[in-house]
Amino acid sequence: MLRKVLFDDGNHQWVFLGRDPSKPESVIDTNEYLIINGDKAMMLDPGGSEIFPTVLSEVSKVIDVRKIESYLCSHQDPDIMSSLPLWMALSPDARIHVSWLWGKFIAHFGNSYVNRFSEIPDEGKTIRLGDQDLQLVPAHYCHSSGNFNLYDPKAKILFSGDIGSALLPGGHPTFVEDFDSHIQFMESFHVRWLPSNEAKDRWVRRVRKLDIKMICPQHGAVFKDENVGKFLSWLENLEVGKTKE
Ligand SMILES: [Fe+2]
Ligand SMILES: [Fe+2]
Repeated sequence: MLRKVLFDDGNHQWVFLGRDPSKPESVIDTNEYLIINGDKAMMLDPGGSEIFPTVLSEVSKVIDVRKIESYLCSHQDPDIMSSLPLWMALSPDARIHVSWLWGKFIAHFGNSYVNRFSEIPDEGKTIRLGDQDLQLVPAHYCHSSGNFNLYDPKAKILFSGDIGSALLPGGHPTFVEDFDSHIQFMESFHVRWLPSNEAKDRWVRRVRKLDIKMICPQHGAVFKDENVGKFLSWLENLEVGKTKE
């Protein structure tokens, strides 16, 4: 599995995990992100149960998993969080940040950690990890109806969940290298999975107000520097919510 440090100022760190070569062919490739601040850590979209052993092994090389004090589930899909019962067995005191829309649905994966949910209101909120504030940014209907991104003003990183996702061939590097040739891997994903042009345009307007150096999606490659603006302009001009029937 690819593990790459995206940001590190000595106290505050972002770690990318992805491209699991041992995952079954039947499951979509996913990226997991770990934010570490001092001796606290948070996982963003911890992933599905199929890849849990690999992700756990990689995370364990970086931190003691008992230091994970919270998880963000950007939305309710199984590839986001079907591993949660397994993670919660290792870090039973951790909190799970998730849209208020999904708590009672996610509880069907296993009810034992429902009291650890910290439900996010539609307008989002600011949470704290160690000495750093992190913003939960609304991204509703992109694609899920209760959906959040996470913005880190120190690292200038936006974790964007399924927005910006690409279905890449195996072995692709962490970052988008040539934006124009990357479009073929993400266009159909956005057209089919994002249901609303209005919601998509509202999201672009919202994130343009943030100072962003990297956009980190849950599938595919990370957009860095000039590719951040290229991605936002591309998405702004894309018509989504279409099927071929
Ligand atoms: Fe999803
Ligand atoms: Fe996803």
